[in-house]
Amino acid sequence: MVNLEGKDILRADQLTVGEVEHILDVAERFAESMECDERLETMDGKVLATLFYEPSTRTRLSFETAMARLGGQVVSVADAMTTSSAAKGETLYDTGKMVASYADLAVIRHPRQGSAQELAEGADIPVINGGDGTGQHPTQALLDVYTIRKEKGRLKDLSVTLVGDLKNGRTVHSLAYLLVRFEMKLRFVAPAGLEMPSELKAELRELGAEIEEDPDMEAALRTSDVVYMTRVQKERFEDPGEYERVKGSYVLDGTKVRHAKEGLTIMHPLPRVDEIAKEVDAYEGAAYFRQAANGVPVRMALLALLAGRVA
Ligand code: NCD
Repeated sequence: MVNLEGKDILRADQLTVGEVEHILDVAERFAESMECDERLETMDGKVLATLFYEPSTRTRLSFETAMARLGGQVVSVADAMTTSSAAKGETLYDTGKMVASYADLAVIRHPRQGSAQELAEGADIPVINGGDGTGQHPTQALLDVYTIRKEKGRLKDLSVTLVGDLKNGRTVHSLAYLLVRFEMKLRFVAPAGLEMPSELKAELRELGAEIEEDPDMEAALRTSDVVYMTRVQKERFEDPGEYERVKGSYVLDGTKVRHAKEGLTIMHPLPRVDEIAKEVDAYEGAAYFRQAANGVPVRMALLALLAGRVA
């Protein structure tokens, strides 16, 4: 029996296969109820705090939409680095203590790896990591596997290629853990210097991952069921010259899609810069905007499960 009530969601690798499957099943139920325009009161009387110390469009809006769709309330600090007491030197531990006295759940995004953990140590309410620097982004990984299951009809026997800034991209760090949980075959395609961190690769292999690394994206796509494109994480570069050197290394366009395995599903956590040409949007396997929309039912499921409001 899966029970996530009261838990923090800080890393994708904390989740078991059973927990992930349960979250996806509950998300599917919420997606259906939204399609029927059902008015839900699942989170009636509950308050979610969203603390965003870094830019966000999808993550914050979809968490807030999820809470609104569940009949709950949201309090929010959007530019927390400048408008919250962080500007006065308050620690995340202390902020956690405060937030827990106002709200029932909290989501945090912050440029520092380990920040969500720090907030969670102070807060005795469920804390969700909405992206901690180059660390993890577990709720993105959940909506990613939800999308794969929806697009492909299954999570087993799939070959998934992750492309782009695998060093700094927190979405791919979290996603890789979940893909391994479902025994998918992984391929990593990255520009030199932006490869998946070796400690993470070692950990994935220890978990039983089958990993191939090849800088040739076109070759990888000929045998991939899913490609997950990511942007080069400009904000993580100290040297702007280095960013200029690697940006635009991998661009998926119509010609490359036509040469890829038939039925290729194309994903991207968004925002895209130039990794996917606009012409690809018309291709039926282009799932990235559907993927972003899936953030709402998946986050609804997670919020309701952490609050103990659904079984
Ligand atoms: C991602 C992030 O913030 O890590 N965005 C998102 O949440 N969908 C990806 C990115 O910024 O490249």
